Amino acid sequence: MSASLGLSPELIGYLAQANPPEHPVLARCRAETAALPMARMQISPEQGAFMQFIARMLNAKRAFEVGVFTGYSSLATALAMKEMHPLGAHLLACDVSEEWTLQARGYWREAQVDDVIELKLAPATETLQQRLDAGQGGAYDMGFIDADKSSSDAYYERGLKLLRPGGVLLFDNVLWSGRVADPADTTPDTTALRALAQKARSDARVHAVMTSVGDGLLMMLKR
Ligand SMILES: C[S@@+](CC[C@H](N)C(=O)[O-])C[C@H]1O[C@@H](n2cnc3c(N)ncnc32)[C@H](O)[C@@H]1O
Repeated sequence: MSASLGLSPELIGYLAQANPPEHPVLARCRAETAALPMARMQISPEQGAFMQFIARMLNAKRAFEVGVFTGYSSLATALAMKEMHPLGAHLLACDVSEEWTLQARGYWREAQVDDVIELKLAPATETLQQRLDAGQGGAYDMGFIDADKSSSDAYYERGLKLLRPGGVLLFDNVLWSGRVADPADTTPDTTALRALAQKARSDARVHAVMTSVGDGLLMMLKR
């Protein structure tokens, strides 16, 4: 799992005690993912709790996610949505990895939210565009983007169209372990994240705020 930026292990432990108890399947997903070489891609438990709070605030019934990995964030969101909407909750989950999402599907089944989650294995830009072409513009309450950073703008434009007014779009890793504040770093991912932040700040279609939750979470409320 990725540690929340700048927090000591003691504070991370304190947060875990202060927040609602982690669902046992989320805890297992976290523990088992820790053994994988790419474990740091997983969101932190405190970010999962925060996203569940946002889903509840929005009374979210329909959401999309780009970047599933082994399923922690999708499971957290789906659990909150299914509790609020036992009938009709729907999470569109986009990824390109058969291997990682196979593990995710096991957790979704175990937590009994597999009926809520629709997995699409394809480049997410295509999947989001297909949903728009199918007339689903304005049909989603919440979106979470946590995948290839160089496609951020494509996800921004499509994600924003999929959201209803008052819906929320979340972008993960916008502090990029601090690299966005290093002028010497001009790599494509860092540059794309800076451009995303600049665009959100001056975009009249949204009210955007950047938070230091996790590795930086950019939150946009669609006007
Ligand atoms: C940082 S991980 C997601 C972590 C996840 N949200 C969690 O809570 O564990 C990024 C994921 O994005 C996926 N990904 C990368 N490029 C993609 C693309 N073009 N379309 C869809 N998914 C992509 C990767 O396969 C990987 O599973």
